[in-house]
Amino acid sequence: MVEGENIRLGFRRHMDIFRGFPLLTFLEVSTGLPVMVWLYGGGFLAGGSMGANFLDNYLYSGQEIADRGNVIIVTLGYRVGTLGFLSTGDSSLPGNYGLWDQHAAIAWVNRNIRSFGGDPDNITIFGESAGGASVSFQTLTPHNKGLFKRAISQSGVALCSWAVNENPRKFAEEIALKVNCPTDDTMAACFKMTDPALLTLAGSLSLSSSPDHPLVENVALSPVIDGDFLPDEPYNLFHNAADIDYIAGVNDMDGHVFTGLDVPSINAPLIDTSV
Ligand SMILES: *[C@@H]1O[C@H](CO)[C@@H](O)[C@H](O)[C@H]1NC(C)=O
Repeated sequence: MVEGENIRLGFRRHMDIFRGFPLLTFLEVSTGLPVMVWLYGGGFLAGGSMGANFLDNYLYSGQEIADRGNVIIVTLGYRVGTLGFLSTGDSSLPGNYGLWDQHAAIAWVNRNIRSFGGDPDNITIFGESAGGASVSFQTLTPHNKGLFKRAISQSGVALCSWAVNENPRKFAEEIALKVNCPTDDTMAACFKMTDPALLTLAGSLSLSSSPDHPLVENVALSPVIDGDFLPDEPYNLFHNAADIDYIAGVNDMDGHVFTGLDVPSINAPLIDTSV
């Protein structure tokens, strides 16, 4: 048996919490259950805490895992696209807002999950693709000390080439041109007065790619080394993850959606080749 609840944390801030009860003991209130927190992927550009709906099933519904695993599943939302990751590369618009959102939600779960029957000392965060890289960033930042014990990254870690934008200013200037903002030191102030819908549309992903310029290189609205959430390059931050058990892996065929655009012939029917 599973209960789901959408909790309102503040203006436009919600969190979904699912709690599973072992079938035979559903009249008792569970306590001390392990907790898993899901971070969705979507190239830091798209995604939602429920996931897509296939045949009346939400992809990221916590129900199946909660049913089978006697575990509490939490899925959270975080800002994506320009509103989540646009950065001018300086303190006027440092970036990483989506990662801060994830961190705030993880801290909330740590503080409150006991009230839902969870064990705050047994929290695992997990995610896929940009969500997998996000999990990795959450283990590497100095801001999550003691908030979770374990982490699982599927098909994405902070060391992936697409996970960090080393030159965010360049992309911010491209966005500025699209929304009629100057590219000097008033750029950030102008962005903040720009219609958020317009800003979001200006942060779209260029789908032109080839084997020499794979699509993942177009992922520009990604985390940045901001000197705060990420004080240094990810490979210099592993001391912050010393107390965290970590599994990293790759989901079968997870890169196909990208490779099919880079090399369209891989989706063509197989043909006999004469030798
Ligand atoms: C966390 O939960 C798992 C699954 O129930 C259990 O195996 C593990 O011992 C727990 N760890 C702690 C530290 O309580």
